[in-house]
Amino acid sequence: MKHITRVFDLTKEEVEHLLKRALRLKEDFKKGKERKSLAGKILALLFEKHSTRTRVSFEAGMQKLGGGTIFLSKNDLQLDRGEPLKDTARVLSRYVDALVVRTYGQEIVNELARWASIPVINGLSDLHHPCQGMSDVMTVIEKKGDITNLKIAWVGDGNNVAHSWIEMAARIGFTLGLACPEGYDPNPEILTEARQVAPKPIEIVRDPKDAVKDADVINTDVWASMGQEEEAEQRKRIFAPYQVNRELLKLAKPDAIVMHCLPAHRGEEITEDVLEGPQSVVWDQAENKMWLHMALLEWLLAG
Ligand code: CP
Ligand code: NVA
Repeated sequence: MKHITRVFDLTKEEVEHLLKRALRLKEDFKKGKERKSLAGKILALLFEKHSTRTRVSFEAGMQKLGGGTIFLSKNDLQLDRGEPLKDTARVLSRYVDALVVRTYGQEIVNELARWASIPVINGLSDLHHPCQGMSDVMTVIEKKGDITNLKIAWVGDGNNVAHSWIEMAARIGFTLGLACPEGYDPNPEILTEARQVAPKPIEIVRDPKDAVKDADVINTDVWASMGQEEEAEQRKRIFAPYQVNRELLKLAKPDAIVMHCLPAHRGEEITEDVLEGPQSVVWDQAENKMWLHMALLEWLLAG
């Protein structure tokens, strides 16, 4: 039994296997080769933050594979009235086959995983967004064939999604340059741990131009993540030079793709023309979350 609290819960071979399975599963389903491999299985989703993509792609994916889903808003559970996480984890484990959790603290995911006897999947915490990291890399492979010789740029906040990209860079082996304003670097422990095993450089730079120059992929995310709403105005000023716009995009390779995990704030971290432009792959990127989640659920629950 396996938990996916972060990308580093998976070995290189496991990540590669999942990416292959997701691409294959997508191809199969598009050809009409569907399967109900998770018939009789139930996935619960325990969310204390908003979600469009992660929730719907997990629920739709599970149902496409013949399984059932139960969405649990934290406010509706006894958890919200003080029932311990360890009790919640053990009780849910008696009813359902896997649990996706979206929460503020990584320690909440870890505590649920510690007590659950079913797989616990992190559907975003303040520190990690592992399934996003995996489906994003799947999208790069789908568009570019191979990722290991590419230069990937991250522009903006060293946040949860950046951390999962860092761990994917370490597992898969591609060059990753992150341009972050001072004070908004990725978590130093995650960075150190990743660099110790990464076959290619993972670099932090201050100037977004340095990260984007000759890059094959440009990635960004919101400047203020969920839970940082009070810092939003201050962050807008600090992050202003980190906007992904047409000027910045010109420095990348001519066939570079632009990625954003969404939701996007047009006119802040990315301009409307770039988000809607020919180099943007954000809609395929959002779609691929579902195929990756399906591959992950099949692997965890059906072998
Ligand atoms: N990218 C992503 O996780 O989107 P949601 O917040 O809509 O789930
Ligand atoms: N970094 C963002 C990602 C949303 C999918 C957040 O945590 O709000």
